Amino acid sequence: MIFESHAHYDDRQFDADREALLASMAANGIGRIINVGSDFAACKRTVELAHQYDDVYGAVGIHPSEIKDLCEETCEWLKETANDPRIVAIGEIGLDYYWEKDPRERDRQRYWFRRQMELARQVSLPVIIHSRDAAEDTLKLMREIHAEQIPGVVHCFSYSPELAEEYVKMGYYIGIGGVITFKNARKLKEAAVRIPLEHILLETDCPYLSPEPNRGKRNSSLNLLYVAQEIAALRGITEQEVKEATWKNALRLFSKVKEL
Ligand code: NI
Repeated sequence: MIFESHAHYDDRQFDADREALLASMAANGIGRIINVGSDFAACKRTVELAHQYDDVYGAVGIHPSEIKDLCEETCEWLKETANDPRIVAIGEIGLDYYWEKDPRERDRQRYWFRRQMELARQVSLPVIIHSRDAAEDTLKLMREIHAEQIPGVVHCFSYSPELAEEYVKMGYYIGIGGVITFKNARKLKEAAVRIPLEHILLETDCPYLSPEPNRGKRNSSLNLLYVAQEIAALRGITEQEVKEATWKNALRLFSKVKEL
């Protein structure tokens, strides 16, 4: 079975076939799915989905590009919702300087990233970190707040192999998805070989980032097979070994998720 550690099935792109698609996952080898919140509305939909499907769990948190949704009230909601047995992580949270160029808004991103990291510490849940074009500030902030005490995953990892090793040293997992199948993903392929298999999680970030041979189409967890195959080929191990290891890794990190 494959553990899908990062999906957005609340997305509108799944409105037409969400129910049929999610109902077909177990039969297609996808045993567990974490649906991850992005804005506040998506977090509320995530809670619903996690209660609707046995194999879907949820993460709640506000994405750096959606921090307009954050205030003391939403923070309080996140804190309460973290007690829900189906909610297993805080995320996705972090920094995104690719979409945000304004230095004052970047300050605000850092403020809310820190607040949500502290919230995860308080409620004893792992974090799902989104970091794009913000490598230096992400690592700096994580060091300042002693992120090594807060378990988590750096999702859709897009930095250097050296940086992957820094995160691994802090105990973090590295989320690897469809990008690894792209021809030009040289750095990511290298990172996937250099870090220990015990620190890798499989993820899609669907509906985005479909792997080859489905690049450009709507993504779903069913495509994780291609990601597992690529990691196996790069590391010279079997696909089965990749599936088993990443399954165990995800259960270790998301400890509220029930085993099969
Ligand atoms: Ni995402």
